[in-house]
Amino acid sequence: MCGIVGIVGHMPVAPLIVDALKRLEYRGYDSAGVATVEGGRLARRRAEGKLVNLERRLEDEPLGGLIGIGHTRWATHGVPNEVNAHPHFSDDVAIVHNGIIENFAELRDELTADGFTFTSQTDTEVVAHLVARELRNGAAPQDAVFAALKRLRGAFALAIMFREDEDLIVGARNGPPLAIGHGEGEMYLGSDAIALAPFTDAITYLEDGDWVVLRRSGVEMFDMSGEPVERKRQQSVGTSLLVDKGNHRHFMEKEIHEQPEVISHTLAHYLDFAGGGVKAFETPFDFKKIDRLAVSACGTAYLAGLIGKYWLERYARLPVDIDIASEFRYREVPLSDASAALFVSQSGETADTLASLRYCRAQGVPIGAIVNVRDSTIARESNGIFPTLAGPEIGVASTKAFTCQLSIFAALAVRAGIERGTLSEEQARHLVRALSEAPRYAAQALRLEERVEQIARELSQVRHVLYLGRDTSFPLAMEGALKLKEISYIHAEGYAAGELKHGPIALIDEHMPVIVIAPHDRIFDKTVSNMQEVAARGGRIILLTDEVGAAKTSLGDIETIVMPTVPEFISPIVYALPIQILAYHTAVAMGTDVDQPRNLAKSVTVE
Ligand code: G6P
Repeated sequence: MCGIVGIVGHMPVAPLIVDALKRLEYRGYDSAGVATVEGGRLARRRAEGKLVNLERRLEDEPLGGLIGIGHTRWATHGVPNEVNAHPHFSDDVAIVHNGIIENFAELRDELTADGFTFTSQTDTEVVAHLVARELRNGAAPQDAVFAALKRLRGAFALAIMFREDEDLIVGARNGPPLAIGHGEGEMYLGSDAIALAPFTDAITYLEDGDWVVLRRSGVEMFDMSGEPVERKRQQSVGTSLLVDKGNHRHFMEKEIHEQPEVISHTLAHYLDFAGGGVKAFETPFDFKKIDRLAVSACGTAYLAGLIGKYWLERYARLPVDIDIASEFRYREVPLSDASAALFVSQSGETADTLASLRYCRAQGVPIGAIVNVRDSTIARESNGIFPTLAGPEIGVASTKAFTCQLSIFAALAVRAGIERGTLSEEQARHLVRALSEAPRYAAQALRLEERVEQIARELSQVRHVLYLGRDTSFPLAMEGALKLKEISYIHAEGYAAGELKHGPIALIDEHMPVIVIAPHDRIFDKTVSNMQEVAARGGRIILLTDEVGAAKTSLGDIETIVMPTVPEFISPIVYALPIQILAYHTAVAMGTDVDQPRNLAKSVTVE
């Protein structure tokens, strides 16, 4: 989703801004722009599409200037073209914005009546005009911004620059993240620390309602009542690990291949492999005391939560409600004193997940978060976090964060089972032993890549795919379908295999591949019956199973990916890999933009 950069520096900033924008590309965007002030002149270059187009514009018509702002735009209001790309100007004001101004229509009418002309279809332009109107009325730049902020409803991170002051950027945050970077005689502002990593690792994260005045000499911070506030300056973590594809063609491919290692790191944080137990890691809730866990998340993180529900209910007998966060936040869910809430998010910035967290906080229940970005808003606003140690995930389609989220859910299920007395020591040890083998099996699953790639080539010819599974393989079937549609744009649906006859069976014909995830487990035979139903109607089955499963399936001509035989507990962690690889190679065969698929964003900071 939109990315913001601002620099008050002492070298020409346009190339630096483009460099920082490249680090925000992973968030997803469809146009980009940069503006600078030089010699009392405000100038900008904008381009539809990828940053390379903006770079070409800048080569043809370079921009000088020691102060500037830049933006990658993920379109909400108005198509992704040059006119709607940021920065937006009004009189002597330049602005970039991430978020949605909800009262923009009302403000647009008011500003139009005041003589302002709108040149774009964006909601952002109202902010530029609001600030300009204050300036016309004689306000000083920072007062003009403060007055404008008070008129805005909705979500925003803003960076605003003024023609008449080459030592001033004003930033503001209400919702989407914004970080200040402290340099030597220069200051930065960006959507995250990753963007600012080449310049500084001294970072201050703004809180909602903060607005800041940035000059080369430093930063002043205020709250929405105009009072000065202090925010902690911290050393940003992990940004130096950044971020190249190594020998891989795409970040997604690299991240898929990192899984044995990052699953292992993550599990080692929670489990005592040698002793066969669970470590005494801090949790924000007492599993003995709670009688219900409300889990909310979006996208792939939601599907990790759904698998987590199976585990927590099975092994810890802890009732779990799992919700898509955009539904949870408005559902007015009743939460008792014995409830706890758990949020799952790779980025830690997803707007709906954050809003759900805040709802639960207002209800006074203890809040935990499974997050990958440790200094994210969701991490900061939780009572305690369960970090996934996946490292930066750049590919828009989540892969390694997902299996690390699953690893934590599995560890939590064991921990909760021990504390709630539903698992004996021996049973817990058995589960920990199984989990400790997940990295090894994940590595074995990676070795099936060639076979999966063959099937992907066939899949790239079809328009629709059905994924089926039972038990924990059901949410995984949904994740397989999600991966496929995200990056290959093939229409795919994930269904509970038992639900086949309640609708999707009507779709089955020889053109409809049906991918069945069925490790040989307690209910394998039930899934085989569903495969029979597909086969009887001429459907084309692609089966993911283990050796025993493959031997027991007598369906004639089906394609099988024979997985390592793994303990039932960890099968979703291991089976996640071939479905990711399948989506990846299908997308590669189709020539789509794997790491930045069309219309999608990595960090979804609007609702
Ligand atoms: C977007 C991403 C998904 C991700 C979802 C939730 O849709 O493209 O990969 O699963 O957001 O993001 P989060 O950062 O909260 O896990």
